[in-house]
Amino acid sequence: MRAVDAVIRQRLHSDVALVRQVAEYIIAGGGKRLRPALVLLAAGAMDYRDRHHHDLAAIIEFIHTATLLHDDVVDDSDLRRGRETANALFGNAASVLVGDFLYSRAFQMMVGIGSMRVMEVLADATNVIAEGEVLQLMNCHNADIEIEDYLQVIRFKTAKLFEAAARVGAIVGGASAEVETGLANYGMHMGTAFQLIDDVLDYSGAEVETGKHLGDDLAEGKPTLPLIHAMKNGTAAQASCVRDAIVAGGRDQFAAVLAAVRSTGALDAARSHAEKEAAAAISSLAKLPASIYKDALVQLASFAVDRRY
Ligand code: IPE
Ligand code: IPE
Ligand code: MG
Ligand code: MG
Repeated sequence: MRAVDAVIRQRLHSDVALVRQVAEYIIAGGGKRLRPALVLLAAGAMDYRDRHHHDLAAIIEFIHTATLLHDDVVDDSDLRRGRETANALFGNAASVLVGDFLYSRAFQMMVGIGSMRVMEVLADATNVIAEGEVLQLMNCHNADIEIEDYLQVIRFKTAKLFEAAARVGAIVGGASAEVETGLANYGMHMGTAFQLIDDVLDYSGAEVETGKHLGDDLAEGKPTLPLIHAMKNGTAAQASCVRDAIVAGGRDQFAAVLAAVRSTGALDAARSHAEKEAAAAISSLAKLPASIYKDALVQLASFAVDRRY
């Protein structure tokens, strides 16, 4: 991961001062670096010993960072990684444009890897992520969304990049088709669990731990699983409280919605859905030979569910 960090710092460079300023600001905020870790673990599980995986891991983190810059504009968020978002500090225009810089830098670096397969996986993944964010936009303020449609949004916007991270690690490590599919499925399930918990933390997290404001999802009228569960299982009064808050958006009803979410057991239901996804992720590793890398992947699937940040 230190080697990945060195690549990130080196490839962040631009002669344009504002690009440097915004890009360095968000990268300096840290982040968990889970997706690059996935690349290294998948490649490590294949006993890969060359250096391409460091570049690939940095590429994946650049794509992730670009989506965060854009996402915080779209979600109108002003806190990330425990500090002001780039859009709050530098404005929406700078965030969108520097997000584009990071996306395109990632593609410049991909060319350096020289693998058409890797190029295909990452081009497809970024395209699906964009579709996921647009699908989510179309479902904002939609209190009638089905669970399946919500799950499609999170698979596209979040799980796809975890899937791509594990898959490119497998590809660069020379995995068989069967093992590559297993690792990709691991990433997909683990990423789904990860976003399910992200949506739980938006109602139950501690801001000092998550580094993000609670209630951002409700403010945007996002119908996430905790709300869908509360509407399906609550009393008529609870269901209409949640429904009205989704339609209206904003933070005014946060306390009432949180009470409905808590008393219907919606957070536990979402958590237990995440646990099933994590278990499916671990099962996907069946064909992977035993190694410290495989052990770490198993632990990472549990972390995706148990995490508080
Ligand atoms: C945030 O991802 C965006 C989601 C997909 C929920 P992370 O929680 O991995 O963000 P950092 O990189 O650790 O800040
Ligand atoms: C993740 O969804 C969006 C991306 C894939 C960038 P969220 O909107 O829930 O992520 P946070 O909570 O802002 O990190
Ligand atoms: Mg967001
Ligand atoms: Mg969120």
